[in-house]
Amino acid sequence: MRVCVIGTGYVGLVTGACLAHVGHHVICVDNNEEKVKLMQMGQSPIFEPGLSDIIKTAIESEKIEFTTDLAGGVSHGQILFIAVGTPALPNGESDTRYVEAVARGIGAHLTSDYKVIVNKSTVPIGSGDWVRMLIMEGFAEQRATVNASVLAGGGATEDLVTRKSSLPEPEFDVVSNPEFLREGCAVYDTFNPDRIVLGSTGTKAIALMQELYAPIVDRRYAADPALPSVPVVVTDLSSAEMIKYAANAFLATKISFINEVANICDRVGADVVEVAKGIGLDSRVGSKFLQAGIGWGGSCFPKDVSALIHTADDYGYEAQLLKAAVNVNQHQRVIVIEKLQQVLKILKGKTVGLLGLTFKPDTDDLRDAPALNIIEQLARLGTKVKAYDPIVSQTGMRHGLSDVLVETDPERLADGCDALVLITDWKQFRQLDYAKMATLMHAPVMIDGRNFLDRKALEQAGFRYVGVGRG
Ligand code: UDX
Repeated sequence: MRVCVIGTGYVGLVTGACLAHVGHHVICVDNNEEKVKLMQMGQSPIFEPGLSDIIKTAIESEKIEFTTDLAGGVSHGQILFIAVGTPALPNGESDTRYVEAVARGIGAHLTSDYKVIVNKSTVPIGSGDWVRMLIMEGFAEQRATVNASVLAGGGATEDLVTRKSSLPEPEFDVVSNPEFLREGCAVYDTFNPDRIVLGSTGTKAIALMQELYAPIVDRRYAADPALPSVPVVVTDLSSAEMIKYAANAFLATKISFINEVANICDRVGADVVEVAKGIGLDSRVGSKFLQAGIGWGGSCFPKDVSALIHTADDYGYEAQLLKAAVNVNQHQRVIVIEKLQQVLKILKGKTVGLLGLTFKPDTDDLRDAPALNIIEQLARLGTKVKAYDPIVSQTGMRHGLSDVLVETDPERLADGCDALVLITDWKQFRQLDYAKMATLMHAPVMIDGRNFLDRKALEQAGFRYVGVGRG
């Protein structure tokens, strides 16, 4: 099938590359020329395991193209994905100006052949209808331009109605198709989804979307092709949009719940790791997303939970549980400082080393990373902050990191520190030479912000170990 993906951020690029990989003809459109040039050379502008390889193969087999030409992309695609960013505004509301510009742009280039326009971006509930309206507005502008040029060329005497019909009404349906990709596993998640959600009342659109996803639904590219086919939830536009928010809000709340339990564990002397194991075995609870620590960050949970709170508020409902989940999450970032104060007493003049900076492992993403808050708080208290991160230390990214000295390896990080704090659960942090690192530190203290390290091994290496909610 012919596909156009507009916006080559995490969601757009992964979607475009994976759809090309399963055999569709994909044109990816982005207005950033530098980025387009990079992708045309087979390079991925984001760090995502497996992505560069599938982009290169798709370029070689001529299944994917990258361009800044929106008109060309729109005319190519039977299915057009809107996959541009919807960042959070300071008040928590989603900033939908990029979606708006793209929807108008699609309308401005629509021709008479039927198209499916897919909202892949996480858009506020009700956006499907709004996008339809914007496309029609964009189309009306196109028609006005055509009419003006016909009038200019042919004089005002001709029958305007006849000339208007030279640009017939476009035929299209809008579909909400939220993504559930985790950064760091985005390619894997695309080929191995738990479900695919399609929201639209247009039967033709749903049939085309089912055809598009057939190779993934049939698990032709799955890690385990023997699994039953992927469930497809076909529903209305608003419910599909809500599914995305509710899924992220639920997972974020689940983490805040276990973090609250961890804070109580710390006071009563229980170990939240044991508690999480014990409750997670109840199949009604499930064991995933019960890892207590410094809480959630990234580009999705904080933005989507705030947007849902904001939407509820717009409709006269106070989302108390979601607000509490956000508050618990903010508090988790303060807990690290409290724990450092308990151990080191005065933080002014001390040196603290952070193991990890990104909001989670296997990504280079620092958006709403707990590390940024923690660095800010430590800097305010006059603490010298150093950090080592397997990706950030390599790439030399420094945005938002002006108050921190980024070291090139874990031992240089440990050198001269009064305490280390594990911020990100990168698996290589389990293999470090902690005995050697302890000898380089003033006082070997480890605040394990993810309850990720082996407590006994750390203690044997000479560290004083402090977890989150471990009594
Ligand atoms: C999330 C959703 O999982 C995905 O379905 C959605 O499409 C986008 O948002 P992502 O932000 O990539 O994906 O990361 P995820 O792996 O879900 O982790 C989110 C945050 O929660 C991270 O900061 C992680 O460290 C934290 N987390 C996760 C915990 O603190 N404890 C846990 O048990 C799990």
